[in-house]
Amino acid sequence: MVNKVLVWFLILFIYFSPVLQAQQQPSLPDPLVLKNGRRVTSATQWRTQRRPELLALFASQLYGQSPSKPAQMRFEVFDSDPKALGGKATRKQVAVWFNGKPDGPRMDVLLYIPNNVKEPVPAVVGLNFWGNSTIQGDPAIRISTSWMESNRGNPYIDVSCVVNHQSTEACRGLNARQWPVDSILSRGYAVVTAYREDIASDEPTMKFSTGVHPLYPDLQNRGDNFGTVAAWAWGLSRIMDYLQTDKAIDTKRVAVFGWSRLGKAALWAGATDERFAMVISNESGAGGAKLFHRGVGENIRRLCTVFPHWFAANFRNYMDQDTLLPFDQHMVISLMAPRPVYIASAEQDKNSDPEGEFESAKAASSVYQFLGTDGLPATQRPPLNQSVQGQMGYHIRTGGHDVTAYDWAQYLRFMDKHFKK
Ligand code: GCU
Repeated sequence: MVNKVLVWFLILFIYFSPVLQAQQQPSLPDPLVLKNGRRVTSATQWRTQRRPELLALFASQLYGQSPSKPAQMRFEVFDSDPKALGGKATRKQVAVWFNGKPDGPRMDVLLYIPNNVKEPVPAVVGLNFWGNSTIQGDPAIRISTSWMESNRGNPYIDVSCVVNHQSTEACRGLNARQWPVDSILSRGYAVVTAYREDIASDEPTMKFSTGVHPLYPDLQNRGDNFGTVAAWAWGLSRIMDYLQTDKAIDTKRVAVFGWSRLGKAALWAGATDERFAMVISNESGAGGAKLFHRGVGENIRRLCTVFPHWFAANFRNYMDQDTLLPFDQHMVISLMAPRPVYIASAEQDKNSDPEGEFESAKAASSVYQFLGTDGLPATQRPPLNQSVQGQMGYHIRTGGHDVTAYDWAQYLRFMDKHFKK
């Protein structure tokens, strides 16, 4: 009898013991441990060994191999108005001809640069969902002729102005609420944007036939093909190429911003292109900032089936393996280090697993701290609508999947903190 009690006691003790529970929790791979199992011991080793190792891992298993800058690429500034927005800004529009040919793929870049500033200004660059003409009511913005999604299923955006998958005059300013150009300019920052479809189509049935993809057939039909998210990140780098030719912009102070799928692209752009001095990820969720290991929110199977064009074919090998992945998204965030990065979540945006986005930022913070910065100055998720800002920033606001005035207010504060001399 005594023996039986003892045996049961032992079974229960082992079952509830914290040691065992710790083992049951899927553990995150450590960004500071090399492929050979050794710990990274210096900042130089991080830069020369571990960082390239991680970039190669994510390029082969998740985002795909992107092309480099095309040698024949050409810029044409086709519009420049020093008295735009009632004299507040200079508007420029630039056609980027990826292969230099006027009948080849074209990306239009729209810039608003604050007036009355003598020095080159810092900027925020981000892709938009509905075309450049939707971020402002400005009648001079060229309306994109690229294909356009006509149903978003998102309660915050009514896209009934899109007719036969084309933008119309009625779409002007449609998305202005998410792009507070006036406030951004008032703080001394330029706003730079381009339309996602000019770079790569978000419609899987297009089968990579538009934008940059057809220029690189060798990078298709392989396990590490560059998907749409990587193509968008590539497009952001091409915008940076243009900015480096524009004397009005201080390219040492450029933040790359993106919401949702475009936030996934902003993170990968920041990881692959260190010219971006800051990255702002607004509810980038799965394949963006959130962790797969928690098994909460959108999973790999959904990403790979609903959005089969977003990531490299190799990523499909990990369907239903979310909690066992040999990598995770905190490692992507750590690739920004030590550059400032801001991760933002929304309470109702369950698909993006807000807790997972915070945990991911927290796990990336170990690299920021290793490199001598404060990283994320929070060990627990901050209360709703309270931004924490160190070298890394984070907030979770009330509400759903969106970009709001609250979000921008935090980003502008973060930009002031890091960009104002
Ligand atoms: C879907 C998708 C998300 C994505 C979002 C968006 O909800 O599941 O991964 O971030 O679209 O881009 O709005």
